[in-house]
Amino acid sequence: MLLDIKDISITYGNNPKPTVEHVSLSMNEGDIVSIVGESGSGKTTVIRAVLGLLPGGGKVSEGDIVFNGTSLLSYDVKQWQSLRGSQISMIFQDSGAMINPIRKIGGQYVDYIRLHKECTKQEAWDMACDMLTRMRLPSADNVMNSYPFQLSGGMRQRVGIAMAMTFNPKLLLADEPTSALDVTTQAQIVRQMMELRDEFGTAIIIVTHNIGVAAYMGDKIIVMQHGKVVDSGDRDHILHHSQDPYTRNLMNSVPTLEGLRYV
Ligand SMILES: Nc1ncnc2c1ncn2[C@@H]1O[C@H](COP(=O)(O)OP(=O)(O)OP(=O)(O)O)[C@@H](O)[C@H]1O
Ligand SMILES: [Mg+2]
Repeated sequence: MLLDIKDISITYGNNPKPTVEHVSLSMNEGDIVSIVGESGSGKTTVIRAVLGLLPGGGKVSEGDIVFNGTSLLSYDVKQWQSLRGSQISMIFQDSGAMINPIRKIGGQYVDYIRLHKECTKQEAWDMACDMLTRMRLPSADNVMNSYPFQLSGGMRQRVGIAMAMTFNPKLLLADEPTSALDVTTQAQIVRQMMELRDEFGTAIIIVTHNIGVAAYMGDKIIVMQHGKVVDSGDRDHILHHSQDPYTRNLMNSVPTLEGLRYV
């Protein structure tokens, strides 16, 4: 098993009441799991916990997170740092948290690579261009020489995916990676993430409000509400056979595009 989240609860700051309660999730290499649920249900909190990146004094107060057979909760700062980016990486909504708006892509990407790997700037530059090309960004050199605001939202998101995939991580955590994009670009990015699994065997946890995206991508879907898992199962079960009223309600609200359901 690649990732085993065992019955975790998460508290923030001095609040003794857990924000996330008794969440479990397990996945193998190459699995795609979608987490859906309303705003504030704790989706981001769960995936941030996997990377040891809980803000606001957040901590896992109960349970365990086991990655490749090792408990991550016993990791120190250095161990987290070497895990992040290389074994597990994250892509963010509109790549906001990853990309600095006032520096050119090239400089940031080169620094990012050299943080994880000893190499010259030229080697890092070439490696970055290679990844950008693989993520189907036209003229990688141009992208490298651009400021983030000079790229479209879809291009920025592809840069974010390219960076996250640089070291071929076993697990990719994607937090609302497409919600800032128009529907057509959203569909392209979704397909591209699916190809990562096929090409590199990357396991993916996709967090999304969009039940269409969740259903399209996930082998397994987890439905959260108020910090708890209210329903979970394989795609077909959740889509067509769930008895849970909250899930059924969500499924009935799958967004449509020009009269067609997105799923
Ligand atoms: N930095 C923080 N400090 C304190 N509490 C927080 C913090 N971040 C999140 N929370 C708490 O965790 C709850 C769940 O937040 P989280 O961001 O995980 O929800 P979400 O499901 O990702 O929502 P959204 O769909 O809006 O992104 C929030 O309602 C809030 O109570
Ligand atoms: Mg969130």
